[in-house]
Amino acid sequence: MNPRILTLMVLAVLGGSLSYCNEIAKPCDPEKCLPPNCRCSGDNRPPGGLMPKNTPQTILVSFDDDVEKQYMDFYDQLFDGVRNPNNCPAVGTLFVSHNYTNYYLVEDAYSRGYEIADHTVTHQEPTTYWEYANFTVWKNEIRGQREILHRFANLPYDAIKGFRAPFLMFTENMYKVLFEAKFTYDLSWPLNIKFNGESPIGPMYPYTFDYISKQICPTVEEPCPKMSYPGLWEIPNVNIMNSDHSPCASMMDGCNPSGNASVWYEILLRNFHYHYDTNRTPFGMLMHPSYFYHGPAGDHLKAARKFLKYAESLGDVWILTASQVIDWMQDPQSIEKAKSFPPWQCPSRPPPRCSSSTANSCHYTEPRDFYMTTCTECPKHFPSPTDPDGN
Ligand SMILES: *[C@@H]1O[C@H](CO)[C@@H](O)[C@H](O)[C@H]1NC(C)=O
Ligand SMILES: *[C@@H]1O[C@H](CO)[C@@H](O)[C@H](O)[C@H]1NC(C)=O
Ligand SMILES: *[C@@H]1O[C@H](CO)[C@@H](O)[C@H](O)[C@H]1NC(C)=O
Repeated sequence: MNPRILTLMVLAVLGGSLSYCNEIAKPCDPEKCLPPNCRCSGDNRPPGGLMPKNTPQTILVSFDDDVEKQYMDFYDQLFDGVRNPNNCPAVGTLFVSHNYTNYYLVEDAYSRGYEIADHTVTHQEPTTYWEYANFTVWKNEIRGQREILHRFANLPYDAIKGFRAPFLMFTENMYKVLFEAKFTYDLSWPLNIKFNGESPIGPMYPYTFDYISKQICPTVEEPCPKMSYPGLWEIPNVNIMNSDHSPCASMMDGCNPSGNASVWYEILLRNFHYHYDTNRTPFGMLMHPSYFYHGPAGDHLKAARKFLKYAESLGDVWILTASQVIDWMQDPQSIEKAKSFPPWQCPSRPPPRCSSSTANSCHYTEPRDFYMTTCTECPKHFPSPTDPDGN
């Protein structure tokens, strides 16, 4: 073969496989961006041509950071007895970072239907660490945590589909790693709902990064990603808002910490109705465990539980994990058909490999005093971004 043609062919192949790094995202073309794997940002209509009144309302409850017994007890109490219209128990999504996490509890939560997602290994401060982190640092933090979850909580790699950036500090390098590592979605980009006078147009639906995002870049530290990442979804992190529609906080625990049970029930009800009464975009109850420790003792748990029971009573509201919401975006079902939608059925998963009394409690003194509980044998070293298996 003519060497010049061969060179051109090799370049064409390389160009194809690396195109995500090279290709600047273009404005979305709705003729080309088609379901199931592409959706334009800024399209506020329910997917699949559904009218809002025929669209099941989804609620996505998520908890960030390390998983410990006292936190998991709050999460289980929150969902206790709350069911979806198909009678499956309501559960949430855990964005897990490594230090102090009890991997036996993660394995147990996964077996009971919770979704486990990635929140980096170290979650370290300051936020500029993430802002300036290069591709390698992000790769070790993101892939490292997925490996740790696989190894010490026995999760299949492909069960770990989602990611949230520490401090919501999303960057281009982060999206590059998520794309390359074949994650399904990110949930790091804060958004305030825009209201159009008396008739709210409602928040943004999840969308993909095939084309340029229309979501507003929140700060100069968080420039919008410029590249194209075909098939990678963003679930906008819709902020909790005050009654005048000004932002209260990105996460529930950042909003009104001293509020009592009636104050918090009102906040949740009002914010939920910004979605339910408009275009039925997913309503996120996104929080750190500190939410449960704020305010008069027990009040925040009481308010959130009361709210979920209210949502359950409406009959067309589903409390789902983040990837179940994406499953529906890819294959939208009406309220009528949702009850038999396979991804929304109760998952059947193996029980944890051990119990709380037979789990290994691994103790380390380097890099500092850490305990790690797992059904797996204790690794020699405390796992880290560059040594996730602890070899
Ligand atoms: C987790 O532990 C690592 C290693 O000691 C440390 O660098 C990091 O700052 C810790 N993260 C948090 C959130 O404490
Ligand atoms: C990425 O950043 C880390 C930490 O600052 C540094 O050690 C490493 O050399 C950098 N890698 C590249 C490829 O620039
Ligand atoms: C809850 O807090 C609000 C606002 O501070 C107050 O008006 C209300 O009386 C409180 N409710 C109870 C039951 O304490």
